[in-house]
Amino acid sequence: MKGFLGLNGMEPGEVRELLALASRLERSPEPEALKGRILALLFFNPSLRTLASFQAGMARLGGSSFVISPGQGTWLLETRQGVMMDGAAAEHVREAIPVLASYADALGIRSFAGGTDLQADLEDAAFRSMVEVCPVPAINLESAIDHPCQALADWKTMDDLEIPARGEKFVLTWAWHPKPLPLAVPAAAVQMAALRGMDVTVLRPEGFALPEPVMAGARAAAALAGGSVRETADRGEALEGARVIYAKSWTSPLHYGDPQAEAGFRAGLRDWCVGDDWFATAAPDCRFMHCLPVRRNVVVKDSVLDGPRSVVVHEARNRMWAQMAVLHRLLA
Ligand code: CP
Repeated sequence: MKGFLGLNGMEPGEVRELLALASRLERSPEPEALKGRILALLFFNPSLRTLASFQAGMARLGGSSFVISPGQGTWLLETRQGVMMDGAAAEHVREAIPVLASYADALGIRSFAGGTDLQADLEDAAFRSMVEVCPVPAINLESAIDHPCQALADWKTMDDLEIPARGEKFVLTWAWHPKPLPLAVPAAAVQMAALRGMDVTVLRPEGFALPEPVMAGARAAAALAGGSVRETADRGEALEGARVIYAKSWTSPLHYGDPQAEAGFRAGLRDWCVGDDWFATAAPDCRFMHCLPVRRNVVVKDSVLDGPRSVVVHEARNRMWAQMAVLHRLLA
């Protein structure tokens, strides 16, 4: 592996091999596998799981890591190309990334969507421009349109729970949230479940359809793996027989970059909060998934999150094992 930027372009078998390594590392520690290796972590946005699980995973493999959060004890970094740098940013990523890479063996970057230009975010323009100037293997810690480490952990969680890959209904549902959230997690989740060979339903209100390039990528993954991908606004039909309900909020692509209009558009949708009644016609052992962080009683009710269907902590724990497999492949 030269880096880990997304599941797009990976074969289902490659992901399974990577997750077999993750499970092996979970069962049989290799505390010296990455001895002397250093991971740099560049976070333009906040994190709890990604930051902690990468540092813990690197330490468990015998390596070490350092974290840079621009503007928090370090220089603010400019990411735009060709701009006059007479504002707050003292340094450009074109210098900062090669400098950080010169201290490390791999570099992870978290850089969320700009949220103003849908096309630029779908192309992951800012993230890709940083990867281009990175001379060591790069890892996507969540970019504008992808969160592959989350996707790997989610796949492993379903494997751990013995949810079959083929013929099981995976429902990615939109949920209400006070803010317009990025498309990265829903795009990664739909791609992951399709590549796993599941029957994927994207459930969302009218006006919240995932952009066509995201759905096209998921359909291509389903074609490789023998699954299917569809979308609907019909909650009753979508939830019937579901084996997994994966909740996430995302911004309406119709109002991308216009938070005021978007807020008005979603104002009447507060009943898109996953409650126990959502499981009435689902499979008896249907699980609830979410990448976290999650707002209780906004996205999902306490009773679901605290009940036996919820596997959100399992997903978060699997971030570490899945990422350790990535680090092992890149650096061992
Ligand atoms: N799911 C996830 O990436 O969590 P953090 O934003 O806390 O890293």
